[in-house]
Amino acid sequence: MAIPRDFINELIARIDIVDLIDRKVPLKKAGKNHSACCPFHSEKSPSFTVSRDKQFYHCFGCGAHGNAIDFVMEYDRLEFVDAIEELAGQLGLSVPREQGTGKRPDQGLSRDLYELMEEANLFYQSQLRQHTDKQKVIDYLSFRGLSDEVVEKFGIGFAPDGWDGLLGRYRQNQAAQDKLLTAGMLIANDNGKRYDRFRDRLMFPIRDRRGRVVGFGGRVLGDGTPKYLNSPETPIFHKGNELYGLYELKQKHRDPQHVLIVEGYMDVVALAQFGVDYAVASLGTATTAEQFQLLVRSAKQVICCYDGDRAGREAAWRALETALPLLKPGDQVKFMFLPQGEDPDTMVRKIGKEAFEALMQQAMLLPEFLFETLSNNHGADKGALAKQAIALIEKVQDTVLQNLLLENLAHKLGMNSSEDLKKKLGFAVKKAQPLNAKGIQGRGTPLRLAIALLVQHPHLGFGLEEQAALKRLKMPGVKLLGHLLEITREQSLNSAQLLELHREHEQKSTLIKLAQWDHQVADENVLLEFKQTLIWLYNQSIEQLYQELSLKQTLTKVEKLQLTKLISIIKGKAT
Ligand code: CTP
Ligand code: MN
Repeated sequence: MAIPRDFINELIARIDIVDLIDRKVPLKKAGKNHSACCPFHSEKSPSFTVSRDKQFYHCFGCGAHGNAIDFVMEYDRLEFVDAIEELAGQLGLSVPREQGTGKRPDQGLSRDLYELMEEANLFYQSQLRQHTDKQKVIDYLSFRGLSDEVVEKFGIGFAPDGWDGLLGRYRQNQAAQDKLLTAGMLIANDNGKRYDRFRDRLMFPIRDRRGRVVGFGGRVLGDGTPKYLNSPETPIFHKGNELYGLYELKQKHRDPQHVLIVEGYMDVVALAQFGVDYAVASLGTATTAEQFQLLVRSAKQVICCYDGDRAGREAAWRALETALPLLKPGDQVKFMFLPQGEDPDTMVRKIGKEAFEALMQQAMLLPEFLFETLSNNHGADKGALAKQAIALIEKVQDTVLQNLLLENLAHKLGMNSSEDLKKKLGFAVKKAQPLNAKGIQGRGTPLRLAIALLVQHPHLGFGLEEQAALKRLKMPGVKLLGHLLEITREQSLNSAQLLELHREHEQKSTLIKLAQWDHQVADENVLLEFKQTLIWLYNQSIEQLYQELSLKQTLTKVEKLQLTKLISIIKGKAT
């Protein structure tokens, strides 16, 4: 039997999250928010904040976040329904139930998955000490030059050979087996027979920012293939969102000066052993936008380290393309290339910490790497170079960096200043708005800003007339905005209530991200900025319609009229 949505909505409206949390974790007022040391990870200075406006908590250190229900679930380790019961109890209410098909998601599942992953982790670590084959693992570790301390620090373990090293521990527990299957630790063959995914491998546990084991990388002890076997995507493991070593780094440095991003598990571990204890690895894939966000949020300087070969250069270029639109003023991204045939693991062993850090100091700044690559790509063909450069520069949100890149480009093209260049290329460089110069930075696209503002201030949508232009606009994300406008138009909600309505929504994680995103728009400008984003979207829809019509071979009478009208609107805008 389901709990009616209205009741949950009411509950969130009546509970004050600041009072709720303050009773368990004493909060201090800090500006508009309240803060404390995070109850979900260990820290010395507070990065856990609670917002009374949004009725939402968020930890900048470990990423924990949510509304009152989430807090009770996490803090008191309760399942969804029990958390509702608990909150209702505090208000002296009893929880109504309604008949319905709405199936309750298994909120306990992910909690169980974390527990089982931790058990697996402890099991693999114990095998390093206990298993009859342990000597060959110890030999391999010493062959790779890994110290006992670093093995311990990263929780490296051993998955024994055989089909049921892990499975065997859950023979009598079908439910646990099912969950291990979901967690990617077991595989079922065509006959439904289950067996261990990881066999005879050195195991690297991958932790999320809160230190929970969410996946593993397993390396063969020697030359077999595949060299690495990784956990598949599971409900608790999304490769593109995690960075190997970030948790361990944050344990050591709360506010690291710089983060070094490398390719491999072994690289992170070896670097740490030699004192370069601020490296992380993307998990065998190109660095994703989410990973970059995590990195630039963790440290002002991010150094991307690659092999000096062609593949390394290409990987670095992909990283640059990913990073460009995400950078905020003050973020620094550098690129470091190792000599042919070396990786950070071999390099640091060869030359030691100091020389390695000296190499790091010489890393190329982003503009330098960008223009060097463009020159290599296009040689003397300045037109082609300019074209590719402009396409990249257009994506940059940080106006300082953008202007710097334009200056650079103008110089490359033999022009005196970037002003000429901007004119020549018809390049609309964003002007800093005097009204709110701060707000323009790092805001992502106007559409993203619109959604974020609406999630953080749902009252913006209340009573707003329907935005017809949004319906015909083709742009990723526009549907989500339309959907949110529809919900907020009719009811007055706070952020926590709006998010609660989306607990099972496919775009839930996007909404949560945007709810926490620091859009840097001052409170007094929120309404104005929001309106401006809507105007921007309206203009986009006009442009789009104009493009569509002007590409058509034949136009109907109505379309012709429409086109004339559009042209006059567009002209009107230009003057
Ligand atoms: N990788 C992977 N699957 C493979 C090979 C590599 O997932 N079959 C990922 C792993 O995350 C690995 C990274 O790509 O750490 C870099 O690969 P590579 O340079 O080959 O491995 P190293 O980390 O250098 O490992 P080792 O030194 O043990 O060879
Ligand atoms: Mn290596």
